[in-house]
Amino acid sequence: MLLGWVHRVRDLGSLLFLDIRDRHGLTQVIIEGDAALLEKAKPLRSEFVVAILGEVERRSSETVNLGLPTGEVEVRAKEVRILNEAKTPPFSIAEDQNVSEETRLKYRYLDLRRPQLQKNLALRHRITIALRKYFDEQGFYEIETPILTKSTPEGARDFLVPSRVHPGEFYALPQSPQIFKQILMIAGFDRYVQIARCFRDEALRADRQLEFTQVDLEMSFATPPMVFEIVEGALAACFREIGVDIPRPFKRMPHAEAMAKYGNDKPDLRFGMQIQDFGPLFPESPFGIFREAVAHGGTVRGFVIPGAAKFSRREVDELVEQAKQLGAAGLIYARYTAEGVQASAKAIGDEGTRRVLAACGASKEDLLVLASGAPDAASKVLGQLRLQVAKKQNLIPEGKWELTWVTDFPLFDWNTDEKRWDSVNHPFTAPREEDLHLMKSEPGKVLAKAYDVILNGWELGGGSIRIHDRETQADVFRLLGLSDEDAKNRFGFFLESLEYGTPPHGGLALGLDRICALLSGETSIREVIPFPKTTQAVDLMCDAPSTVDPRQMRELHIKPIA
Ligand code: AMO
Repeated sequence: MLLGWVHRVRDLGSLLFLDIRDRHGLTQVIIEGDAALLEKAKPLRSEFVVAILGEVERRSSETVNLGLPTGEVEVRAKEVRILNEAKTPPFSIAEDQNVSEETRLKYRYLDLRRPQLQKNLALRHRITIALRKYFDEQGFYEIETPILTKSTPEGARDFLVPSRVHPGEFYALPQSPQIFKQILMIAGFDRYVQIARCFRDEALRADRQLEFTQVDLEMSFATPPMVFEIVEGALAACFREIGVDIPRPFKRMPHAEAMAKYGNDKPDLRFGMQIQDFGPLFPESPFGIFREAVAHGGTVRGFVIPGAAKFSRREVDELVEQAKQLGAAGLIYARYTAEGVQASAKAIGDEGTRRVLAACGASKEDLLVLASGAPDAASKVLGQLRLQVAKKQNLIPEGKWELTWVTDFPLFDWNTDEKRWDSVNHPFTAPREEDLHLMKSEPGKVLAKAYDVILNGWELGGGSIRIHDRETQADVFRLLGLSDEDAKNRFGFFLESLEYGTPPHGGLALGLDRICALLSGETSIREVIPFPKTTQAVDLMCDAPSTVDPRQMRELHIKPIA
């Protein structure tokens, strides 16, 4: 018996073809010659649920469809039962129509019937199983941590849950299991992993949801190379599910190099166009803007756009405009021409232009773009421009997987608005031993034992070796502007736990949604999450968030202020 949904009906009078869809794909059913059966099948429409009894037959060689797993057979129906009817859906499941995401999410149960989403969720299932198996083989225990808990700082806003029993008090949903997994190391579990739901009230984007899933792990007595090896093995297991054997070990790049060469802490290494520094070519340049930038501690940086020498006036103007929108004061371009060389700032002069073109290794087909300013700022603007241009000019090769570690992040960065230090990662990240002496004098120069793993320009995961002594942890809280009193209120239990024999430990968390999206070939994690929220933070299908009964509000001791 074949059970499923009617995908398509083709009624040829005395002959009727049905495509029946189930989780595994499509099967062709043929109804022929039996008038009563044809009559019974007449009312069938797309998305009706049916049971078909019949015989499986090999298709004739002209009708074999090698595009379908069941394309070599068809079912000759002997009986057709309608198990349920369906209204005409707001969009076709069978055709790839241009349906708005709003409609798709409102009728997510129909959207999820589409073969692509069925495939994505099947892959997500297989990846999850492969990860569980891998971590089990590596001696990790899967341990659950609470959802109703106390705030864990990961840099986003918390979701709070009011307590009915304790008026005016709140639980926080975990931004990550960070503190609990560290406590599990203190508790002696040695190797922990959890496929953990996390909650962060932050602006939504293609790679961010309010609730998302981490593959969260922690190891006692770990060093960064030990964590790298485990995580590389885990990612290799994920890739195996799409039939790809990824080379290990992954590349490694210090954070400072990623920022200088790619203007970004998650460099997309599928294509070149690296940012280069040309400051040393311009201290005496006749072009005042570059000369002055170099004289005042700034520099001149740029990258080569392959094949862009042929850009028209309008195209180069657009590039300059794009750079300005990204925050650059201006953008200078240079190229070889039939007559010699050309720079958009004439003052650079032919010789200066020739020198910089030679230094960057541009060919006659290429266009060099240059921006001056503080080194970090120049690289950041150029880094974003590099990505935008590569996308627009189709310079990013398809089907390429580029994995890299970015290491040695700074421990703190200066929050100019609040005039205090913030953790770049989270406050439990350990400083490098060789930088400990700078903790009080120059916190901005302290590098962390922190690392991110990057795939094709997406941050797949981040982690670190942790602080495991109470004093350093308390020092970090102080540096972050937490009074001892605040630190005790928020993290007293954790600081105390550090005093009872804490092993050195470290770990990382991978974003499962991001892994699944990239391995499914999708550009948004919404395509691998069954019931995602829109970028407006709304679940359109069940209409959440929504108002609640006033009685419930009273029970929770909550009164709206507006
Ligand atoms: P981090 O904050 O870097 O580290 O998060 C780890 C990984 O989780 C994924 N991720 C998200 N995915 C979807 N939507 C979001 N809003 C979102 N936020 C993060 C990313 C990211 O790399 N406790 C630390 C880990 C550790 O130190 O061990 C942590 O949560 O893929």
